[in-house]
Amino acid sequence: MSTTHTDRGAPRTNAPWGWTDAHRAQEIAVIGATGAVGRELLELLVQAGHPASRTSTFARAASTIDVAGVEFAVKPMPAASALRAASLAFLCTPSELSLALAPELVAHGVRVIDLSSAYRLAPDVPLVVPEINGRELERSGLLISNPNCTTAILCMPLAVIDRLAGLEEVVVVSFQAASGAGLPGLQTLAAEAREAVGAPATGPRPKSPFAAPLFFNVIPAIAEVDDTGISGEERKVIDETRRILGRPDLVVEVTTTRVPVERCHSVAVHVKTKRDFVLEDIIAALEASPGVAVTRDPHGPRPRECAGADPVYVGRIRAGTRGTRSLCFFAVGDQIRKGAALNALQIAARLRAAP
Ligand SMILES: NC(=O)c1ccc[n+]([C@@H]2O[C@H](COP(=O)([O-])OP(=O)(O)OC[C@H]3O[C@@H](n4cnc5c(N)ncnc54)[C@H](OP(=O)(O)O)[C@@H]3O)[C@@H](O)[C@H]2O)c1
Repeated sequence: MSTTHTDRGAPRTNAPWGWTDAHRAQEIAVIGATGAVGRELLELLVQAGHPASRTSTFARAASTIDVAGVEFAVKPMPAASALRAASLAFLCTPSELSLALAPELVAHGVRVIDLSSAYRLAPDVPLVVPEINGRELERSGLLISNPNCTTAILCMPLAVIDRLAGLEEVVVVSFQAASGAGLPGLQTLAAEAREAVGAPATGPRPKSPFAAPLFFNVIPAIAEVDDTGISGEERKVIDETRRILGRPDLVVEVTTTRVPVERCHSVAVHVKTKRDFVLEDIIAALEASPGVAVTRDPHGPRPRECAGADPVYVGRIRAGTRGTRSLCFFAVGDQIRKGAALNALQIAARLRAAP
């Protein structure tokens, strides 16, 4: 494993992420436990010292999964009323399921952190990246929404630049990993890679969640493209970036692409600021920001080396050519961690543990 991405000494992980004995006393339900995000969340809970005996896991069917050496008995999802003993439920589920389930759980007094897109734009539901707008949790109800993975990663450096120089315009191209489409995405990429090198298949091939073969390819749209030409993923990045940064009028131009990378989303970002800045001040502010790691590697950061790490890595930081207020950078974050499970755990850790 290369060390270039920790060349400023940022730790790869901040486990146990503020998870205290009070948090460990809570009964937790992880719904969608067998998926890419659910499994990662279970792994983080294990690392944070949450007892497996206080962790219930649900999916469509019963199974047993081994996560970080701990066996979890997954149960078929029961009626929401059967979960009323849980203090906290993480919904690592498709948005149609979250849409129905979240209000039912809340009605039974269960605090819910939803990782789907179902409630991200609901005005009365906070959409939170703790390092940026964690204060919104102080007045939240029982339902909290976790952002889109690309958006969370993008907003980590953008929030720092906004504080220092004021953002006027953001132009971004994303390079999104196969696992952003969950386990079927990861399994599809692996199956295509085996096929490309003539290796035997290791099992039944899943139905591909992608619009085209991904291996040896780049797909320049994620999710459906609407009649204005904007993809569903691009709409999420625009709307959620504005909401998380508290900048409803921010100009955000985005193209989201799917690339044959297993894990970690990357973004190439070009911003214009409202005020002049000194480049070294921006770099110093990024270095000082929790959850952000700056690399001076001229060929980094790269998804392979960032996989499994907590921070959003930022590199290629340079002045742009569009006047004194233009800045360019490249950022990479593990979208299953900071773009999903880790951010959700950080939200839960910021909340006072429910009795
Ligand atoms: N992957 C990412 O990078 C990422 C990042 C940010 C947010 N998200 C969001 O997080 C959520 C989970 O994504 P994922 O990538 O983990 O997807 P995934 O790998 O496809 O997993 C989906 C999970 O939901 C469960 N599920 C589906 N329908 C269900 C039902 N009717 N009842 C109970 N459980 C059901 C599945 O269980 P079975 O075993 O029964 O199939 C599985 O555990 C999605 O809303 C996604 O948009 C994903």
